[in-house]
Amino acid sequence: LDNGLALTPPMGWLAWERFRCNIDCDNDPDNCISEHLFMKMADHIVSDGYLAAGYDVVSLDDCWMSHQRDNNGRLQPDPQRFPSGIKALSDYMHSKGLKFGIYEDYGNFTCGGYPGILGHLETDAQTFADWGVDYVKLDGCYANPDDMDQGYPMFGQYLNETGRPMVYSCSWPDYQQNPNYNLIVPVCNLWRNYADIQDSWASVTDIMDHYADNQDQLSPLAGPGHWNDPDMLIIGNFGLSYEQSRTQMAVWAVLAAPLLMSVDLRTIRPEYRDILLNPAVIAVNQDPLGIQGTRVSKANNIEIWTRPISPVEGDDHSFAVAILNRGEGGTPADVELEPGKVGLNAVNGYNMTDLFDNVAHGVVKPTDTITLQVNPSAASILSALLLALALESLPGDPL
Ligand code: GLA
Repeated sequence: LDNGLALTPPMGWLAWERFRCNIDCDNDPDNCISEHLFMKMADHIVSDGYLAAGYDVVSLDDCWMSHQRDNNGRLQPDPQRFPSGIKALSDYMHSKGLKFGIYEDYGNFTCGGYPGILGHLETDAQTFADWGVDYVKLDGCYANPDDMDQGYPMFGQYLNETGRPMVYSCSWPDYQQNPNYNLIVPVCNLWRNYADIQDSWASVTDIMDHYADNQDQLSPLAGPGHWNDPDMLIIGNFGLSYEQSRTQMAVWAVLAAPLLMSVDLRTIRPEYRDILLNPAVIAVNQDPLGIQGTRVSKANNIEIWTRPISPVEGDDHSFAVAILNRGEGGTPADVELEPGKVGLNAVNGYNMTDLFDNVAHGVVKPTDTITLQVNPSAASILSALLLALALESLPGDPL
């Protein structure tokens, strides 16, 4: 969607994967879906460095609403759990330098059974604008998928007519058998294509494989203002090891995926926080060219994924290269990387750096080979910057 927003993939925090539809504030006041939870997360996003790293949206997901609309037909939050109202919560986010996201559903109900927008599209778009919403996730439960080609654009138009800039996150293709991306890309800033992420390595690898197996169709859709959304980062929760967490971060960076954390920021362990905050990996994700990377080789449990990034010189791009060891044998694999074999052909070579461990590999030419040790169920991610430009950016370099 060409609305000037999401020129790089959105970054923020989204409630669903970690906090679900927990509405039991009597027994679980610290973890239920309430204004208290979102304010706490906002506080941590600011105080623990996430905002400075680029994570600037805090978003509600399902189960924030009352089951009834108000007397004027407008949506309203659950009065017990959001006693100050949504405008106050949005103001709180803005006062901290954050953006505020909301969740709704195109159909008659949200997936959790709360009121959907069908029959109220114009009113709800205006309500969101009045509340100071900056980001709208529109789900697709309890709707006829055939109606979405018309309904999602119509709601997008109502959002636009409010005059308030709002990122538009669509679940439209996820609900259709054969989505027509020619309709979706101009209407949405991002869109879910595939199954909900769950708190497991099996879920992460299933999603990675979906995007790789369908990359010829999906990768060309991405670009500034319009992104495929493989769903939230689950880093720091219960299901992923440290290495698996790095792998999700590396692959989401190469995929130019939205980086939407869904984790309890009050209790996240520091080593997981460091993965989420890694500035070099975030810089790959946020590369201004906005090209979605692809899996370029897969053999014997080793996968190589590449993403063209800036700087560019003539026909040559720099690259991010993720090397995955999908093997489960308990010892690291030695992986030989020959850049020319995975499409890195710039004659002067590349200045290569391992981004997780900040190890410099120096200049590597297309026919050179470097050997990397990659742990089981793990990934390395390298930046391969074009030589001439990379050296210019290193003041004092003897060359
Ligand atoms: C769907 C979406 C999820 C989440 C839930 C909420 O399953 O795909 O991301 O929003 O609904 O009920």
